[in-house]
Amino acid sequence: MPSRFKAADFLKRSCVIAGFIAVLSACQSDPPSPEHGALSRNTPITAPQTMGGALTAPGPIRLTPQLSPAERLEHSLGASFFHKPWVSAPSTTTDRDGLGPLFNAHSCESCHRKLGRGSVPTRSTRESSGLLFRLYGNGAMGSQLQTRSLPGMDAEAQIDIRRENVALVREFSDGLRIELFAPRYTVSEGQSDASLSPRLAPPLIGVGLLNAIADDDLRAYADPDDRNGDGISGRYLLIQQRPGRFGWKGEQADLRTQVAKAFHEDIGISSSVFPLDNPPHCEMPSCVTIDNKRTDISNAGLDAVSGYLSLLTVPQARLSESAEDVQRGWNLFTRAGCSACHRVNLTTTTHQRALLSEQIIHPFSDLLLHDMGQHLADSADDPLAREWRTAPLWGLGSNGGPYLHDGRANTLLEAVLWHGGEAEAAVQQVLTFNSGERAALLEFLAAL
Ligand code: HEC
Ligand code: HEC
Repeated sequence: MPSRFKAADFLKRSCVIAGFIAVLSACQSDPPSPEHGALSRNTPITAPQTMGGALTAPGPIRLTPQLSPAERLEHSLGASFFHKPWVSAPSTTTDRDGLGPLFNAHSCESCHRKLGRGSVPTRSTRESSGLLFRLYGNGAMGSQLQTRSLPGMDAEAQIDIRRENVALVREFSDGLRIELFAPRYTVSEGQSDASLSPRLAPPLIGVGLLNAIADDDLRAYADPDDRNGDGISGRYLLIQQRPGRFGWKGEQADLRTQVAKAFHEDIGISSSVFPLDNPPHCEMPSCVTIDNKRTDISNAGLDAVSGYLSLLTVPQARLSESAEDVQRGWNLFTRAGCSACHRVNLTTTTHQRALLSEQIIHPFSDLLLHDMGQHLADSADDPLAREWRTAPLWGLGSNGGPYLHDGRANTLLEAVLWHGGEAEAAVQQVLTFNSGERAALLEFLAAL
């Protein structure tokens, strides 16, 4: 057991059966078989239309309509900090200056377009910034590569992206072969690419609800030593004694710190949480001119952005449409063992905001890290290289691709076929599906 994974207290997984969602609250280690009553083919699916509890709403992600006009006004500050570009200091707009000196983008919106997923540049990080690179080893460039800089200063590096090698071929029992192409990265200035961890901006769905899951629930879901012998060993990083839950590798434990980190690393905006600007790559102290007298964003600003993100709607699932295929897809999803990681039912803890408090939600994630095998792994020689947090699947259909941590999968089928490691058994199940079953599974995923 790598020491950085402090084994969580093991508690046997339990089945939480909650109200009418009982059908979907399948005991995680024992998915119900399709032959059983409620899940049989002819019974209409009891659809979890309320994916994000009280925050569920159809249409694009936006501030929940349940807020009063005064509350909406309160959140407009958070919205403007998120969507509008930051500028370099000094500037006339002092509440939105302090960009850089090193950064990846001018705004949160540039990567999380319309609060959704980032896009992958076709050739190089020079084009756009939806894909960023975190770094192993904490060398001179810190823990993230900044590909932009203020005038008169060099960015840390650029990454060239190619997508040419067939890394994996998957073959279905009926003979269908799918070739999967892996991205290849080359760092400018001849640096090694071994330390790179590419990360696509994920859609920001239900982050306030995920933030409101009790730490003890995550501890209970974890099974780092796979003591229940199901081949799946969910674990988490301990971040200041709390289980991590945000980011593709669960490296932040709470939403406000995740937001502060994004300001700091992605835009070069300092805050009380990360008071120092990212220094440019330069060994001489004299190269670094940092005004540490005031932070670029106030505590109230951080709260406003976290509050804004917490009260965004969660897309309503379309599980009642074309019910039969979707129902079949759901059966196949549970039968293949997908819900062992893509946990269907979570319940938020008590919270001062009623909209986030004690909500039964369906993110389709245990928020834990899993060994996803060599093909999805970062190339670094590090215990974290193969580990990825179960991607929440809510809103999958309304967001579109590309999928997975680096956007390598253009379709949902590719995303599934890339799964390996602890999920290899589930993929082997999928490879036995005929074309009708494949279509049903994909229809189900697209309806989420
Ligand atoms: C350069 C692109 C980029 C910018 C700009 C950016 N993000 Fe992100 N964001 C990402 C990536 C990539 C991740 C995943 C990070 C990881 O894996 O550690 C992420 C993760 C997050 C998460 C966690 C989501 C989850 O499900 O775990 C939140 C919340 C978030 N960003 C908010 C923000 C906010 C607020 C801003 C503006 C201050 C911002 N981001 C700016 C790329 C970006
Ligand atoms: C062992 C745990 C595990 C199992 C089992 C599992 N998944 Fe995943 N799933 C993950 C993780 C972790 C990721 C993120 C991997 C990455 O980005 O590299 C993921 C990502 C995905 C994505 C892409 C989501 C996105 O936003 O990019 C889809 C779709 C998906 N899984 C569907 C399935 C289906 C369908 C099954 C069953 C056949 C399944 N998964 C089984 C852990 C699992």
